Amino acid sequence: MSDNNDIGLKIGDACFANPVFLASGPAGYGIEYANYLDITKVGGIVTKTISFEPRKGNPGVRLQETPSGLLNSIGLENVGAEYFFREKIPVLVSAGVKPVISVAAEDWGDYRKLIDFIARQENIEIIELNLSCPNVERGGMAVGSNPSLLGRYVRHAKDLLPRIAILAKLTPNVSDIARLALAAEEAGADGITAINTVIGMDIDISRAKPVFKRVRAGLSGPAIRPVALDAVWRIARTVDIPVIGVGGISSVDDALKFFMAGASGIQVGTALFYDPGLPARIIEKLEAGGIPPAIKYSVDKTERKDDDGTAPHNSST
Ligand SMILES: Cc1cc2nc3c(=O)[nH]c(=O)nc-3n(C[C@H](O)[C@H](O)[C@H](O)COP(=O)(O)O)c2cc1C
Repeated sequence: MSDNNDIGLKIGDACFANPVFLASGPAGYGIEYANYLDITKVGGIVTKTISFEPRKGNPGVRLQETPSGLLNSIGLENVGAEYFFREKIPVLVSAGVKPVISVAAEDWGDYRKLIDFIARQENIEIIELNLSCPNVERGGMAVGSNPSLLGRYVRHAKDLLPRIAILAKLTPNVSDIARLALAAEEAGADGITAINTVIGMDIDISRAKPVFKRVRAGLSGPAIRPVALDAVWRIARTVDIPVIGVGGISSVDDALKFFMAGASGIQVGTALFYDPGLPARIIEKLEAGGIPPAIKYSVDKTERKDDDGTAPHNSST
């Protein structure tokens, strides 16, 4: 054990004191957690996804607990880019927080307006492209499941924002997430965030109706941790850029598992709702013991297509 472990993280040209972030959504616009957590201590806060125009979000029930997680159908409710950069970002920055700005769009035209707008802002180091929200009608999922479309979105951001690091946040609701990660890397992404929520649904038996107006919702929390861990494991063996693991991290040990799976950083999401002190405990552990190295590939050799220590891209059992 040493007390001078360097646990800093670099994504593109953006530098962070440590690799522990608050995930987009549960962390709101960041400042909401100031009473529960020393927000200056986390590596960064990924702010609630913003779109160019403000969004009211989805009607009806938006959150429903499950025995091991949370279903949400928020629908990207947000204040819109203009208000966000005028009112929210200065508060965060003056509080000493490094914001990772999460963005999403309904379609290509909307996306270009948003990226254009961001190009005119000052002092932004990093954005996270939410290419993966299951709770909106248009945009997210269509882009997030199509490698060439996803590449087009990433490349556009990279071209217009050459000095800003780009994280591509991926959905697990695809057949081969590693392929999408590779498309993002080839298009110039500086890092991959994996994963967004897993699609699920629930039924209100007293009304014999789906709980959510849009029927399907996004599952987060401990239930999705194995899915997230597997995604990180596969992506980290496919791309050379940093992978930020998110999905069900609910304890210090969970976070360590993500580093061992190959993540360079992690985000805490749903657990913030009931354990806002968790990110600080993870940071303490990393400061004391360093970041655990990724474990070596260890599937039986008969299942491997190669023998050079890298996993086949679509390895499955
Ligand atoms: C209530 C709620 C709102 C969310 N909103 C967003 C969002 O605006 N943008 C985004 O990229 N992800 C959003 N997410 C997904 C989380 O950032 C995270 O990827 C996912 O919940 C898995 O992590 P977790 O199990 O630690 O929560 C949201 C999740 C929840 C629970």
